Parts: sequence; structure tokens; C-alpha cells
Amino acid sequence: MNASEPRTILEARGLGRRFGGVVALEDYALTLREGELLGLIGPNGAGKTTAFNLLSGVLRPSTGRIRFAGRDVTGWPTHRIARLGIARTFQNVRLFGDLSVLDNVMAGLHARWGAGLVATALATPGQRRREGEIARRAQAALDFVGLGALAGRRASDLAYGQQRLVEIARAIATEPVVLLLDEPAAGMNPSETDALADLLRRLHGDLGVALVVVEHDMRLVMGVCGRIQVLEGGRLLAEGRPEEIQRNPAVIAAYLGSRRGAEHAHAG
Ligand SMILES: Nc1ncnc2c1ncn2[C@@H]1O[C@H](COP(=O)(O)OP(=O)(O)OP(=O)(O)O)[C@@H](O)[C@H]1O
Ligand SMILES: [Mg+2]
Repeated sequence: MNASEPRTILEARGLGRRFGGVVALEDYALTLREGELLGLIGPNGAGKTTAFNLLSGVLRPSTGRIRFAGRDVTGWPTHRIARLGIARTFQNVRLFGDLSVLDNVMAGLHARWGAGLVATALATPGQRRREGEIARRAQAALDFVGLGALAGRRASDLAYGQQRLVEIARAIATEPVVLLLDEPAAGMNPSETDALADLLRRLHGDLGVALVVVEHDMRLVMGVCGRIQVLEGGRLLAEGRPEEIQRNPAVIAAYLGSRRGAEHAHAG
């Protein structure tokens, strides 16, 4: 083994999930190395979100094993997996619209550290100090995604693309080792998507976070990911560097061909 090769941080083998008669994911394998930026692409219904739900403990797998940081975490509940260092965002924005942007990010830290509203209401000096520390970390995460100046605004007042960034801030405030992003660019305009690409590069380049990004925006995926997996019908169709994926005939037939067609249709 090459000593300079980064270590594997998250690993899945034979991972599968059925819903009644529907096989959402079958025999999925993942080897994610520390600090890697991996893309997960494929047509609608391919099983991408299901893979995230299994890796983050939202769903229990029907088959297969998951290892994280040297431990078998198969079937662990989502809060235990989160505490160990896997954070995720959801395909649909899940913010408390009436709360401030800062409170939304702080809510993610409370969820992770188990401090709730009761503890806050009956706060001892130690708990108040901890609350200050949580606020400081939440603000730092908002600064990192470029929303620091909007911390006091109501979440529902932000543009949709900014709300997606709040979700990313909520995830990175927990200082994850692995971050799973489900369609982070959905609903973003081209300049927001460019800023997102820069954010993803800083997350893995500066902070060393290992990222798996589910995305339909191929310019973003091909531009930032070092390696890409393609799912189709619940199965892995291909895996490789962006240039390998782009010229893979099976991937073009199943996915990229139709997306190019769709982009031409939009342009025309
Ligand atoms: N909770 C569920 N109950 C029943 N079927 C489900 C459930 N979740 C997912 N499925 C099915 O599993 C398959 C994979 O769905 P999944 O959401 O993982 O796809 P996806 O690749 O994320 O698609 P998209 O790009 O549209 O988000 C689909 O056929 C879907 O209908
Ligand atoms: Mg999905």
C-alpha cells in the first residue's frame, strides 16, 4: 500500500434498500478517502438520496455494511452517526422559516450536542457559556459560506439559493469529517452556483472535509469533483474521473445524453 495515499474514512459494501417490491438501491459500494470530493450522479429515481439516507442513518439498509472512521456503523441511528462526524443536507430545504438565520444554524448544534430549549431556559452559568460558544461557532459557519451579514434575518426572507447555503452552514458548524450534500445547487442561479463551487473547493481544500455531492448540474460536478460515481436504477453504472465519466458510452446513454439534450432545449 502507498503510504502517502489518504486513508479511507467512509466505506460501504453491498449496500441495498428495498421499499416493498421496489429496489431503491442494490449492491452499492463506496470507498471515500479523507478529504476527497466525490460526485454522485444519475437520473431521477436512481437511488442517490437513498444512498445518503443509508449512509447518514436516516434509513436502515436491507443489505450490506457501512464503516466510518474504522467502526462498523451499520444500522446506527442518525444522531449517533452525526455525533461521530457525518453531516448532511437534504434535497428540499428544511429550515425554520420564522427563526433567524443564526438560530437555524444553532439548532443544528443543539441537535448534535443534545442541549434543548429546557436546558436553555434553566440555564446555569456553564450552560450560558456553552450557548455563547454555540452562537460563535454558528456565526463562523455563516461567515464561511458568505452569509455572515445575514445572521439576524428571518430565514424565510432569504432567497432560495441563500437558504440552501444556510443548510450547508448548519451542517459544517458541527465540524463534520464527512459531508453529504443532496443537490446543493438546485434552485441556484449561475453566479450562486459558481460561488457554491468555490465553497466546495474551500471545504475540501482548506478544511479537509470529505464530501459526497449529489448534483444534476454537470458543469458543477465535472468542475469540482475528483471522482464520480454514476447510479442508474439503483445500481452503480460507472465510477471514475470526470473525463472518464464524460466519455463513458453507458453513462452517456443512460444519463448525460439526455441531460445534454435538455440543456440544448433550454438554450433554444
Ligand atoms: N420512502 C420511500 N418509499 C418508497 N419508495 C421510495 C422511498 N424512497 C425512495 N423510494 C424509491 O426508490 C427509488 C430511488 O429513489 P431516490 O429518492 O433514492 O432517487 P434519487 O436518485 O435521489 O432521485 P432524484 O434525482 O429524483 O432525487 C425511486 O424509485 C423511489 O421512488
Ligand atoms: Mg434525490
